[in-house]
Amino acid sequence: MELYLDTSDVDAVKALARVFPLAGVTTNPSIVAAGKTSLDVLLPELYEAMGGKGRLFAQVMATTAEGMVSDARLLRAIIPDIVVKIPVTSEGLAAIKLLKSEGIPTLGTAVYSAAQGLLAALAGADYVAPYVNRLDAQGGDGIQTVNELQQLLHMHAPHAKVLAASFKTPRQALDCLLVGCESITLPLDVAQQLISSPAVDAAVKKFEHDWQGAFGRTSL
Ligand code: E4P
Repeated sequence: MELYLDTSDVDAVKALARVFPLAGVTTNPSIVAAGKTSLDVLLPELYEAMGGKGRLFAQVMATTAEGMVSDARLLRAIIPDIVVKIPVTSEGLAAIKLLKSEGIPTLGTAVYSAAQGLLAALAGADYVAPYVNRLDAQGGDGIQTVNELQQLLHMHAPHAKVLAASFKTPRQALDCLLVGCESITLPLDVAQQLISSPAVDAAVKKFEHDWQGAFGRTSL
């Protein structure tokens, strides 16, 4: 499986790359806007923070197919092997087809249904990103959508991978993996929650306390 961080926080990527089997970093316009660093500066910094390896994803801002293709070329001029995120609108589908013919890898983003995701994959997207929490928040079922999309791609577009996105809890991420999802991208808070909890901290403190009580020190 592939595990990504959904962030523009360079220091956090550097820190978590020590701990996680990180496949790369995904961004979106809101995430980049929150950090207020322009893409030509941010993307090389993120790439370096990833140790100069792994996949980086950045999104186009244009809304026409031709504009998206030209944004994709701009992004590829910054990071040559970047995967270009294209919102799966009608224009987005046309852009994915054009970019496929140029050999530029894409991720179909803002996916709110299995059918929409399948269309992106059939247009040539390498990754498709269903928005799990946003689906749940609007009364849908994010995990079921991931499950259906996973099956549809397996049957009809096996070149494409589901890269599930938009998580608010570790449970959502685990449920996603349990239905066979091959890749997920996590915001920093959810990634942190996967490895730390008050219960774990308390368990470690108790080991120290017991050892100290018996031997007068906390070292071996
Ligand atoms: C990834 O492709 C999405 O842009 C991102 O995961 C959306 O997350 P959010 O719903 O927390 O904004």
